Amino acid sequence: MQISNIAVIGLQWGDEGKGKVVDAVAQLSRYVVRYCGGANAGHSVQIGDQKYALHLIPCGIFQEGVLNIIGNGVAFDPEVALGELAALAERGLRLGPDRLVISSAAHIVMPWHKLQDSLSEAALGADKIGTTIRGIGPCYADKATRTVAIRAGDLTDAGVLGEKIARIAAIKSTIFAALYDAEPIDADAITDEYVEFGRQLAPMIANVGPILRSAGGKGERIMFEGGQGSLLDIDHGTYPFVTSSMVSACGIPGGAGVPPSAVGTVIGVMKAYSSRVGAGPFPSEQDNETGQFLRDRGHEYGTTTGRPRRCGWLDAFAVRYAVELSGVAELAVTLLDVLSGLDELKICTGYQVNGQAMTDYDPAALADAQPIYETLPGWSQDISQCNNYDDLPAAAKAYVARVEELVGIPTSIVSVGPARHQTIFRQSQIEELS
Ligand code: GDP
Ligand code: IMO
Ligand code: MG
Repeated sequence: MQISNIAVIGLQWGDEGKGKVVDAVAQLSRYVVRYCGGANAGHSVQIGDQKYALHLIPCGIFQEGVLNIIGNGVAFDPEVALGELAALAERGLRLGPDRLVISSAAHIVMPWHKLQDSLSEAALGADKIGTTIRGIGPCYADKATRTVAIRAGDLTDAGVLGEKIARIAAIKSTIFAALYDAEPIDADAITDEYVEFGRQLAPMIANVGPILRSAGGKGERIMFEGGQGSLLDIDHGTYPFVTSSMVSACGIPGGAGVPPSAVGTVIGVMKAYSSRVGAGPFPSEQDNETGQFLRDRGHEYGTTTGRPRRCGWLDAFAVRYAVELSGVAELAVTLLDVLSGLDELKICTGYQVNGQAMTDYDPAALADAQPIYETLPGWSQDISQCNNYDDLPAAAKAYVARVEELVGIPTSIVSVGPARHQTIFRQSQIEELS
C-alpha cells in the first residue's frame, strides 16, 4: 500500500510553530524536505531543556532514521548552513551525507545578495518591506534572471565557481556603484571563501529529485517542511509585503521536484492568535495592551532577527483562505497556552471594506479592511501541562471548536507549550497520529 506523504505549512505570516510540529511528527517519515525560503526562516525545536533554532537545516534532524533534504526551491546560504552544522556538532549532533542532502539545483545566496537586500531596504526608507536582510529576494531574482545565478552544483567545481564569481561580481559592482554608490565587490576574496564552502559541502550536494520521486515506490514517506506562512507567499500573499518564494503547499511540487499528487496530507499550523514581523497589512493587529500581552506571553521576538513581532487577534477569515489555497486537511493549533488569562477572546471572521463586507478573501485589498469580530469567553487556568484534550477548560475547547467551524477543517494537534511533551494529539487522517 502507498503511504501518504505529509506537508506541514504555516497558515499565517510565519512563526506559527512549524518547527515544533515537524519535530513532533518527523519520526513517521523517512525524509524531511525544505522546499521554499532560506535562512529567513527560524524554526524552533525544544527537546528537554535544550532549545534549537534552525534556519536552513530541516527540523527532522532530531530523529535518527530521517534523511533531511534541502530542496531545489530553497535559497541556500552555505555560510549559514555550515555555521548551523558546526553549532549542532558542538552540541553532539554530527550530520553527514546520510542525514543531510542538499539539492544541486538549489540557488546559492551570495554576499552581493545580502548587500543588495540591505542597501535596497535602506534606500526604501519608510516604504521598506522589512525583510530579514538574508539576501532572499535578490537571490530569487537572480534565479529568474538565470545569467547571474550560482547553484549548489557549481560549488563543487572550483574552476566553474571562480569564473562565475568573477563575471557576476563585476556586473553587481557596476550596478551597486550606480544605484547606491557602493564600493566594488572583492571577487577574489569571495572565491576563496566559497571554494572552501564548496569543499566542505560537496559530499552532501546531490541530484535529490530521483531520491524523492522513488520514495513512494519503496514505501517511504516524505514530510515537506514549509517555511514562512501562506500570507507571505509570493503569489498568494499580501504582495508586495511577502517573501520571494511560493511557501504555501502550492510551492511543494516545484520546490521539491515531486508531482503535485505527492504532496499528501497537508497539516496547517495555526497560532491561536496572529503575529507578523516586517511591514504590510494586518487587519486584526492589536497595537495596544492586548498586543503587548500576547508578545510578552508568547515571547514574540523574531527567531532570525530578534525583532519584536506585531501581535493581534486570530484572523479566521485569513486562515480559511490559507486552508483553501493549500487544500489543508487538518489544523495544528499552537501557542493555545498563551491565551490563558484573557477575559475575552476575539476572532476576526471577516472584513468590511468601504462599508461592505468582503465576500472572498482578497490579499491585495487589505489596506482599508476593517475586521469584523466575534467575542468568545476566555479562560484563566494554566493549560501548559494538559496532555489530554478533554482536560482543557471548556472555554479553550469552545475556542478551538469555533475556529474549526470558521476555517472548515478539524484540529489534529493542539500545542500548549514549546516542549515535545506539551503536544496533544487528536483524531487524524494520518493513522499513526491518532
Ligand atoms: P516557526 O518559524 O513556525 O517554526 O515558529 P518559530 O520557532 O519561529 O516561533 C514559534 C515560537 O513559539 C518558538 O519560540 C517556539 O518554541 C514556541 N512555541 C511553539 N509552540 C508553542 C506552544 O504551543 N506554546 C508556547 N508557549 N510556545 C510555543
Ligand atoms: P519562518 O519560517 C516570519 C518575512 C519578513 C518580511 C518578509 C520578507 O520562521 O516562519 P524576506 O527576508 O523573506 O525577504 O522578508 O517576510 N519573513 C518571515 N516572517 N517568519 C518567517 O519564517 C519569515 N521569513 C520571512 O519578516 O516581512
Ligand atoms: Mg520562525
